[in-house]
Amino acid sequence: MYLVVEHRKKRLRRCAWPVPPVDAAPRAPTKGSAMENLSLQGKSAVVTGGASGIGGAVTKLFVARGARVVVVDLQQEAGEALARELGDAVVFLQGDVSDPAVARAAVAAAVERFGKLDVLVNNASASRQKPFEEQTDDDWDLAMGSGLYSTRNFMLAALPELKKTGNASVINFGSGAGLDGQVNQASYAAAKEAIRGLSRVVANEWAPFNIRVNVVCPMAMTGGVAQWAQARPEQYAQSAAKVPLGRFGDPDHDVAPIIAFLASDDAQYMTGQTVMADGGAIKLR
Ligand SMILES: NC(=O)c1ccc[n+]([C@@H]2O[C@H](COP(=O)([O-])OP(=O)(O)OC[C@H]3O[C@@H](n4cnc5c(N)ncnc54)[C@H](O)[C@@H]3O)[C@@H](O)[C@H]2O)c1
Repeated sequence: MYLVVEHRKKRLRRCAWPVPPVDAAPRAPTKGSAMENLSLQGKSAVVTGGASGIGGAVTKLFVARGARVVVVDLQQEAGEALARELGDAVVFLQGDVSDPAVARAAVAAAVERFGKLDVLVNNASASRQKPFEEQTDDDWDLAMGSGLYSTRNFMLAALPELKKTGNASVINFGSGAGLDGQVNQASYAAAKEAIRGLSRVVANEWAPFNIRVNVVCPMAMTGGVAQWAQARPEQYAQSAAKVPLGRFGDPDHDVAPIIAFLASDDAQYMTGQTVMADGGAIKLR
């Protein structure tokens, strides 16, 4: 014990930034055995854009692993169909995620129906691809509203409930388009990189409440990507050629399990990170 304290004293003298006090109690591991943690049994989640694409795959996998989910999406028909398919484990809320009232309603629905909120997945996003100088204010409002402001709105609305659980996970969505500077993606890339910056700050600010905040940058063949591939075949071919694992991911089998891991207690020592779920296309340093 004496040696440890001495060692920390030396470190304190050398550090230019504040370090935790030497007697700060280490946070205890949350709970569960390693055999149980990947399960999402008993967790309550909100998944934005959860009616289709990656969000739809996340909703299905969360329910399969024991969670209950409030799905928020613009698409009424797809959302209702998913809720019918998954039964009592899913509540569907039709709405635009850029509206703060929708965020508050989603959190209220989780508490009313499932008693609490443990996991927030900010997956919804929409954008238009054009050269930067052709992107209008409306294009910027779409990317920022559906991506960045929705992420902010849902995090703010969820905070009081996430604090109550004392063991919560927020998963936000970035994109290789932002990391790589893909052409025609100015507003989208800007929104996605802002989400990463926001997530790193909030990961630090909310760590004392044991609320983890991580970002996933996926690559998966979904409806949105299929539309983009059709509109920009050359850009799509370039992206596909850069995937070392040789394919665009499958939302159900390649991407949703990574999000389920981040939501689970197996990821309890991980926060402020960007996780690339992209077949190795981009390596962060
Ligand atoms: N698929 C990929 O390869 C890829 C690559 C990089 C990043 N991403 C990110 O992953 C996430 C999911 O991507 P995807 O390919 O499944 O997208 P998608 O377009 O297939 O699905 C998005 C879902 O969000 C919903 N949505 C969009 N705007 C909304 C709004 N304003 N309010 C409510 N719901 C709204 C849509 O109805 C849809 O159900 C997004 O954040 C996307 O930017 C995806």
